Amino acid sequence: MAFRSLLALVALAAVSNAAPTTVCPDGTHVSNAACCPFIPLIDDLQNTLFQGECGEDAHEAIRLTFHDAIAISQSQGPKAGGGADGSMLIFPTVEPGFHANAGISDSVNNLIPFLSTHNVSAGDLVQFAGAVALSNCPGAPRVQFLAGRPNATAPAVDGLIPEPQDGVSQILERFADAGNFSPFEVIALLASHSIARADKVDTSIDAAPFDSTPFVFDTQVYLEVLLKGVGFPGNGSQVGEVPSPLPAHSGNDTGEMRLQSDFALARDPRTACFWQGFVNEQDFMVSSFQAAFAKLAVLGHNPSKLIDCSEVVPTPKPAVNKPATFPATTGPQDLQLSCPTQKFPTLSVDPGAQETLIPHCPDGGQDCPSVQFSGPAPDIP
Ligand code: HEM
Repeated sequence: MAFRSLLALVALAAVSNAAPTTVCPDGTHVSNAACCPFIPLIDDLQNTLFQGECGEDAHEAIRLTFHDAIAISQSQGPKAGGGADGSMLIFPTVEPGFHANAGISDSVNNLIPFLSTHNVSAGDLVQFAGAVALSNCPGAPRVQFLAGRPNATAPAVDGLIPEPQDGVSQILERFADAGNFSPFEVIALLASHSIARADKVDTSIDAAPFDSTPFVFDTQVYLEVLLKGVGFPGNGSQVGEVPSPLPAHSGNDTGEMRLQSDFALARDPRTACFWQGFVNEQDFMVSSFQAAFAKLAVLGHNPSKLIDCSEVVPTPKPAVNKPATFPATTGPQDLQLSCPTQKFPTLSVDPGAQETLIPHCPDGGQDCPSVQFSGPAPDIP
């Protein structure tokens, strides 16, 4: 009897630890007062930057979470970089100037002003902005958010960010050296390229998407990267770029771009089955990305020393619930499959004799200017 009462007490303690016990100034109940500063930050990020959309500014903030966090190296030691420490924002004239960070200055300059208006560290700001940005993308997971990263004390060294012209071995080694990421986790993280476009790979085109649905977190990118390439969306072949299956463009609709690294990872014996395994598997892709992203977001930190504020991350927009489809003009005959052990799913083909143009804006239109604050981070080509 005494033992049962003790068990009941222990259970009660566990519940009350997790229960919201603190009331923030705006009246929201949270489990730890350290989570309160992130509540007004959500509205400010949404109203000032993201406009509640999975558009350019949200995409850039998500890319920044990766480029800040991966800049850490077990083999080179602590001096190489501190991981998810906000060093991009604290030393904005250093890391954003590295070649692999081309284009990152947009999100760095956009986030710096929030450091003086909100009481959060730079590392927390980068990861929290990414979590809020993801919540705007239909189908994306509600990611874990742990708070309390101390501010970076030094910038990271150059050479730690993977580039699209890097080989598969180099990419896998970099992720392993940064934080023991397995090849499966690397492929899961690339679900992020479902909501991604390139400005700097071919500077003749603005925002060339990596799949036909760049405003939705879906599995199309895993399908489309497996298709035979037929041409380039912009000014011919660029470093880190290979032919894409959907190069047609018109106006601001640029045509799809394919990164050499995505192409190679989708076909390499070490990763092809993982890549194929995500095609049309929305829930599996989302849970796998969520787990790998949680690991990425705390690189350089002991998670047990951080405070779990996941409860304040907004609930993402629901998935569109559309199965993966071959874009018009493509089909099963274009698949380049390298995984011998997996049956490829049967998917339908979008109707139409012309390549579908990929919309430039989340609302399907052509005109959607993104927010851009000026700031110290240099815009490099
Ligand atoms: C093999 C590793 C990776 C390589 C080589 C790579 C490379 C690239 C390149 C070249 C771009 C286009 C940049 C530009 O020209 O504007 C890009 C965009 C992007 N990447 Fe990656 N990436 C990798 C992994 C990741 C990971 C792990 C994430 C996030 C978890 C990520 C998120 C993004 C996002 C969201 C964009 C779009 C940015 C925008 O639309 O403005 N990438 N990536």
